Amino acid sequence: MKICKTVKEVKKEIKKWKAEGDTIGLVPTMGWLHEGHLSLIKNAKKGSDKVVVSIFVNPMQFGPGEDYDSYPRDLKRDAKLCDKKGVDLIFAPEVDEMYPDGFCSYVDMNGLTGELCGKSRPIHFRGVQTVVNKLFNIVEPNNAYFGEKDAQQLAVIKRMVKDLNMNVKITGCPIIREDDGLAKSSRNSYLTPEERALAPIIHQALDLGKDMLKKGERNPQKVIDAISEKILSVGVTKIDYVSIVDALSLKPVDKIESDILCACAVYMGNSARLIDNFSFEV
Ligand code: PAF
Repeated sequence: MKICKTVKEVKKEIKKWKAEGDTIGLVPTMGWLHEGHLSLIKNAKKGSDKVVVSIFVNPMQFGPGEDYDSYPRDLKRDAKLCDKKGVDLIFAPEVDEMYPDGFCSYVDMNGLTGELCGKSRPIHFRGVQTVVNKLFNIVEPNNAYFGEKDAQQLAVIKRMVKDLNMNVKITGCPIIREDDGLAKSSRNSYLTPEERALAPIIHQALDLGKDMLKKGERNPQKVIDAISEKILSVGVTKIDYVSIVDALSLKPVDKIESDILCACAVYMGNSARLIDNFSFEV
């Protein structure tokens, strides 16, 4: 497995593979890999001849006061995991390599980013779209894999690819959970033992909401209130949002009449903001 730090090195490798007729699968990550990422790699291995994992903590998608500095980083550890899973190349650039002096171009969108995480993280998706666009241009993947835990990110990337006629197939992969239901996330490493013990409440509360929908509840506010109440009942003090939005437009709905996404972001203590979601088909 190769580890490349520069765009030039990656492009050289990609050119060689393309000349040999290989298809390329890209798994974009910010590192501190967990089983969620490993399942993306597994899917990429099934769907493409060569698998590239990018590892880059992208400063452009973090707002002021967010966890850019404290985000866990350990390339050696991640490289070992990738090697074991049969990854062909890791692209792990420094910030200067991705955003050299004078960098001033961005990719952004008007829809899909106004609700959910976009409300409290207004510059986040511009940063995600810009870096993913750059990664697509550098790696030229046939396929790219993203986790469904970041449901809004997945919707934004799919829309960007469609709107901008990008030549890459996007595959969303299911959320991977701990045995107690907590969605796997690099940010779970911020949790104190006490917070970790409380964190499964997020999934339990979403399950409660899903049960209400299955039993026929169609008033979104009733479901949102029940989920919020359950999360707060264990002593969690800050919910960023619990929302029910239309699955395609990601706009809030007054009545649940078509497919929806129910998503939440919850602060566990001071440092960890955890997200989770489920989709419901009507
Ligand atoms: O999901 C992530 O880890 C990041 O948002 C991504 C897609 C790698 C872009 O930096």
